[in-house]
Amino acid sequence: MCGIVGCILKENKDVAPILFSCISKLEYRGYDSIGIATYDNTINVKKGKGDIETVNENLNFEDMKGDLGIAHTRWASTGRPTDANAHPHMDNSQSVAVVHNGTLENYTDLKEELIEEGFTFKSTTDSEVIPNLIKKFMEKGKSLEDALRKTTEKLKGSYAIVAISKDEPDKLVATRKDSPLIVAYGEKGYFVASDTPAVLEYARDVIRPDECEVAVLTKDGIEIHDKNGENVKWESKYIDWTPEMAQKEGHPHFMIKEIIEQSEAVKNTLGQKANIQKIIDEIGDVKRICFVACGTSYHASITGKYLIESMAGIACDVVIASESKYTARTWDEDTLVIFISQSGETYDSRMALKEARKTSKTLAIVNVAGSAMTDEAEFVIQTQAGPEIGVAATKTYIAQLTAIYLFAGLLSKNGELIEELNKVPAYIDEAVKERETIKELSKMYTFAENIFYLGRGFSYPIALEGALKLKEITYIHAEAYPAGELKHGPLALIDEKVPVIVVVPPGEDYDKTMTHIEEVKARGAIVLCVGAKGDEKIAENSKEIIGINPEVTDIIAPLVYTVPLQLVSYYVTIEKGYNPDKPRNLAKVITV
Ligand code: G6P
Repeated sequence: MCGIVGCILKENKDVAPILFSCISKLEYRGYDSIGIATYDNTINVKKGKGDIETVNENLNFEDMKGDLGIAHTRWASTGRPTDANAHPHMDNSQSVAVVHNGTLENYTDLKEELIEEGFTFKSTTDSEVIPNLIKKFMEKGKSLEDALRKTTEKLKGSYAIVAISKDEPDKLVATRKDSPLIVAYGEKGYFVASDTPAVLEYARDVIRPDECEVAVLTKDGIEIHDKNGENVKWESKYIDWTPEMAQKEGHPHFMIKEIIEQSEAVKNTLGQKANIQKIIDEIGDVKRICFVACGTSYHASITGKYLIESMAGIACDVVIASESKYTARTWDEDTLVIFISQSGETYDSRMALKEARKTSKTLAIVNVAGSAMTDEAEFVIQTQAGPEIGVAATKTYIAQLTAIYLFAGLLSKNGELIEELNKVPAYIDEAVKERETIKELSKMYTFAENIFYLGRGFSYPIALEGALKLKEITYIHAEAYPAGELKHGPLALIDEKVPVIVVVPPGEDYDKTMTHIEEVKARGAIVLCVGAKGDEKIAENSKEIIGINPEVTDIIAPLVYTVPLQLVSYYVTIEKGYNPDKPRNLAKVITV
């Protein structure tokens, strides 16, 4: 998983500073190495292992000459993060340079064939076969564009590729299959990129080429060609996110900025009410709903199941996308399959979506406008969280929940719930204001090796998300359990060294949850409760308490109680000296 960018300027100015600025915006797609290639009578390449800023300090990308070029930020999938494995990769004769995002399943066969023909390789990546294949076809008389097409005919797997050649130095060519790629234009020139935040500063009119189409960018404009090389008529969408929305705005990390922005994300997503009603009317009757998602979006799906089953009385399943193949066999024309994804690009979810389209109605709840799933699903709800840069999902999660609450509320004609949602932004702001207190109490969790999160009913997905956030960014082992299930095994792990965080809002499950607090306290656990402010019973039974507005009851708790748990993870991470925006081994968009 990587970020790629290509740019050709209309005027003869140096493109490197623009490429550098664009690729910096894609760091959330990967950050183990970075590289840029520009054309200036010959192809110049600078690349290296490390994050964007460090590599730039060493190599000074902005110094590079030339008015067209390509850039790459890498998240290693094939071949370790090293200088040699960083992109762009060039062919043996140094005349074709390529950036690639995706995974080639048959690269070892292709590499062997090329080695037999006398080619040599400098990297251990799958990607390096691509420039060599392109060059091989160009030597046989093909144009750069046709050589790219011929090359992709040989590739198995996923790819978004941008290529330049010194034999045709007036253009960039790009194509994709199962990996994201957008084409965009602005005043200064023409762009290709993995995702829109890369180009927002320079270009807002965005085209999304179909699979296997080839985009050809020259100083005169953009052409999109189909697999026969015929012109395709394209349409662009105007993206109204501001570049400032993608900046940290004075906060030390994107994550805290994005946590603070959650009330705004809810407000903006509530603006989708009319659209959601329209979608519900168009979908018509369904007998069953199945949610499919990964990671944090999976937790939003569980909340969706609880809401729809309790309010609309429709049977709901929730399935992790990579485990959906058997459930998929039970989908039929009376099933609505709902896909939840902040990125709209997650490979496993997209593959399940492909299956669902064969039998069922499909709805995608997605944050990134123009992402793959927005094209692939029959119905789309776009959450309005704006760009999220921190790898660990926060505001996109709360926005997903908001869309699900609206969907469930409208589906079950529950006016009261819809009314209640309008109060959520204020509840979130109140919770966020407690961050100094949360920062202080988080210190006591820094040295924990294992932490348990407990919740019942609507509080169970809150516990799940709390534990996932902690694992992702603090690297502390955390597990979430439905509170009632603890006694069936994991209780054996509880002792005085294990902090237990219990989510206990007022509501139906309150009394039962209090009994579970007793169970863990009896085993010596240090209990932190997240519950209603001023709740004396909780205060008596726990070492620490994070107080939430008492008007927030169990049903809407996921939208509010999640916030202090995000803050706990954030402050433990800071205390431990890690960067919450870039957790090790993880990436924001998983297109493999
Ligand atoms: C990655 C991200 C997670 C995210 C998951 C699913 O693992 O790091 O934050 O929840 O992918 O992504 P999606 O874009 O489909 O919601």
